[in-house]
This record gives sequence, structure tokens and C-alpha cells, in this order.
Amino acid sequence: MGKNIVVIGTHWGDEGKGKFVDILTDKAAAVVRFQGGHNAGHTLVVDGKKTILHLVPSGILHAHVECLIGNGVVLSIPDFFKEIEQLEKSGVDVRERLLVSPGCPVILPHHIFLDMAREKVRGNRKIGTTGRGIGPAYEDKVARRGLRVGDLFNPEYFVSTLEDNIDYHNFVLKEYFHTDPVSLQQSLDASLAFADQLHPMVGDVVEKLGFLCSSNANIVFEGAQGSLLDIDQGTYPYVTSSNTTAGAISSGCGVGPRYLDYILGITKAYTTRVGSGPFPTELFDRVGSHLARVGDEFGSTTGRSRRCGWFDAAALKRVIQINSISGLCITKLDVLDGLETVSICREYQTGTNREDLPIYDKIPGWQASTVGARKLSDLPTEARDYLKLIENACGVPIDYVSTGPKREDTIEVSNPF
Ligand code: GDP
Ligand code: IMO
Ligand code: MG
Repeated sequence: MGKNIVVIGTHWGDEGKGKFVDILTDKAAAVVRFQGGHNAGHTLVVDGKKTILHLVPSGILHAHVECLIGNGVVLSIPDFFKEIEQLEKSGVDVRERLLVSPGCPVILPHHIFLDMAREKVRGNRKIGTTGRGIGPAYEDKVARRGLRVGDLFNPEYFVSTLEDNIDYHNFVLKEYFHTDPVSLQQSLDASLAFADQLHPMVGDVVEKLGFLCSSNANIVFEGAQGSLLDIDQGTYPYVTSSNTTAGAISSGCGVGPRYLDYILGITKAYTTRVGSGPFPTELFDRVGSHLARVGDEFGSTTGRSRRCGWFDAAALKRVIQINSISGLCITKLDVLDGLETVSICREYQTGTNREDLPIYDKIPGWQASTVGARKLSDLPTEARDYLKLIENACGVPIDYVSTGPKREDTIEVSNPF
């Protein structure tokens, strides 16, 4: 029987999902994105070469893997083609292996304008979005006024609906935000102008997945963002505008929940967050700067510096529950090398101002380098103790440990396939 494996970020994104989707798709026929958009930035390091993917699924470097984009993904068409062309320039054939659902909402220039204008007005209450128009595009979808990829092939309907949409949103841009409106031409240039190029890649993702499920193929479902950025379960309102948890798969690409066999939670050995919002274990001291510097914690999409803190096992326990996580993959363990002590937040105590105060378990760190370890027994005893501490706190087994950005810098404890 084929196996369907789900890859989900456990905290606020950038846990190393891209690296593990690349590793897992070696044994898969297809990989599917089911939510989010080009707010994602997934990094792969293969044969010394770094590739950052935003919309193209992270199985693309394996020539045998079909890469599907489900209806739950909001698509910026110019950014999609930019990415395709970059991959082609580095010698990767992509167009024949990409399949985009006609149900994907299209991100248009007014979505980006609205995203930016709202953030500006919020001032120090800003969400710290990626400025990609993600939220407004999902709003138009839910309001049932949005344009979808399939509409590009009915130009008359597309143009007239676009005109209505622009009228509506320009009113808000001009009268409420006192900012520049968008033009019809600029919107057409970012959408309809690509219709002919996009057409061969558009097809029935649901049917394709149905076929794969019935033909014993292995499929990887690639989550974007992280569980704590989920619009319902996350740290609202400091979240993204899609459901980022495993429950989003069925609605986001059309595979029923019974077909999902294994949920792999990707977790950093410490915690990071980019953008605003609560972060109970955030560190503002020397250790925080160590994590940012050694972990090279700058956003793959916007280049912003990421906030860093200790491992949050209290949040992880809840995340394991809401995703029904089967196993964990701990990434960036090497970044903790050389710290005197290491801590994980076991639970929160509610403070007098109702903020969450983390209660830590602290153990000795390790001084030897873990970079590029291939077996658990290659790790210093203290590093193994740290992994045990995480495993015991969460009650879920660790399947992989990652000690460097490269494909090979990986310890496989148990293969989910
Ligand atoms: P994603 O959004 O979850 O795919 O993660 P990102 O690609 O945004 O961020 C993860 C970053 O950490 C990337 O630069 C990876 O190359 C890098 N990375 C992944 N695993 C490891 C690891 O085990 N050690 C180190 N040092 N870097 C890693
Ligand atoms: P990957 O897939 C980290 C964050 C933004 C902001 C909030 C809302 O690489 O893990 P949005 O533009 O989505 O409306 O921004 O969500 N955010 C991410 N943070 N990794 C991501 O993706 C993110 N995608 C969105 O920084 O706080
Ligand atoms: Mg990322």
C-alpha cells in the first residue's frame, strides 16, 4: 500500500519543513501544497546549492516527483513564474511536473496594496505580515467575490469581475486609507497576461490525488507556516489567514482524512518567530543572540530577523493534539552546540497580568560539535539527554534529528514510509 505523509510546522514557521519534504519525497510519487501562498519560504540545500521555494512544492529537485498545488493555496501568478524561471535557469525541468488547481484564489495587486495599507494604519499593533497580499486574498475568497485560476480561461467573466473588485477595493484604498488606487491594466498584467503560459499546468488536482491514492503511490503533503500561525488554533490575531494545521489538508486539496497515514511535526531545537505577537519563551539576552547568529535566523521570504527563544514544549503538546502528530523531527540541534546550559519550557504559569510565564527544565549543554552527525550515537551524551527531555515532555517519538542545512546532515531514527 502507498503511504501518505504529512509535514507540519509545529510553532511559528521556518522549522525546516522544506529540508524534510525534500528528503521524504525521495520515496514519493507526488508532493502537494494545500494552504498558504508565497508567504512561505522553504529552503533546500542539495549538492552544496541552496534553493528557496515559495510556491513550488519542495519535492521539485527529484526528477520523478509530481508537484501539485491544491485549491487551498492562494496563487500570485507573477511570483509563481519567477520561481519557475529561476528553477529552469539552474537546470531543473519543472513545467511538466507542476499541476495547479483551477480552484486556487488569485492574488491581485489590490490585495498587496490592502495588506500594506492595513499594516501601516495598525502602527505598533501591526501583525508583521509578509506584505504579500495573503490575508486580503483569502478574504475575497471567503466573501465569494474572488477570482480563481480557472476564471483566467473565461476572459470575459474574469475582466468584468475584476472591474467590480477593483471598484470596490479602490474605494477603500482611496477613501479610507488615503492611498493610491490600483489600475485595471496593472491587475491584468499580474494575472490574465499569464493565462496562456499557465494553461498547460492547470488541471484537476483532486482527480490526480484520487488516482495516486488508488494506485499505491506515496504522497507527501507539504504544510506551510506553522501550527501557531493557524487562523483558528494559533495566536490570533497574530496569525496568517489560512488553516496551517493537518485538518486543512482535506479542504485544501481534496483528499479525505482517512487517507492520511502519518503526521510528521517539524520542530526546531529552539523556537523562533518572525513578525509580531506573543512568544512566551523569547530571549533578549546573550543566548538569544547566539541562536539568531549561529542559526542564521533571517526570514527566507522577507529577510527580516527572526526572534529567538528556548524550546516551547508546552505549546508543542497542544500542537501535537490538534494535528494528531505521529512523530517529530528535531532540526537545528547544531545551533545549540557550545551553550553552557539548555532549557525547555515544560508548562506555563499564568502571571498577574495574565501573560504566560514559562516554567523551564534546565540541563547541562554540550561543548562538542554535532554538525553533520549521522547516528544518534555520534551525539554527545548531553545532546541525547536534551532530545530525551523533549521526547518525555511531549510523549511523541523523535523520528529524525537534523544537525545542518544539507540533505545529508540528518539522523534517521525511524523512517515514516
Ligand atoms: P521552512 O520554512 O520550515 O522550510 O524553513 P526555512 O527554510 O524558512 O528555515 C530553515 C532554515 O534552517 C533554512 O535556512 C535551512 O537551510 C536551515 N536548516 C534546516 N535544518 C537545519 C539544521 O539542522 N541545522 C542548521 N544549522 N540549519 C538548518
Ligand atoms: P514558512 O512556510 C514564518 C508570518 C508573518 C506574520 C504572519 C502573517 O516559511 O514557515 P501573512 O503574510 O501570512 O499574512 O503574515 O505570519 N508568516 C510566517 N512566518 N514562516 C512562514 O512561512 C510564514 N508565513 C507567514 O511573518 O507574522
Ligand atoms: Mg520558511
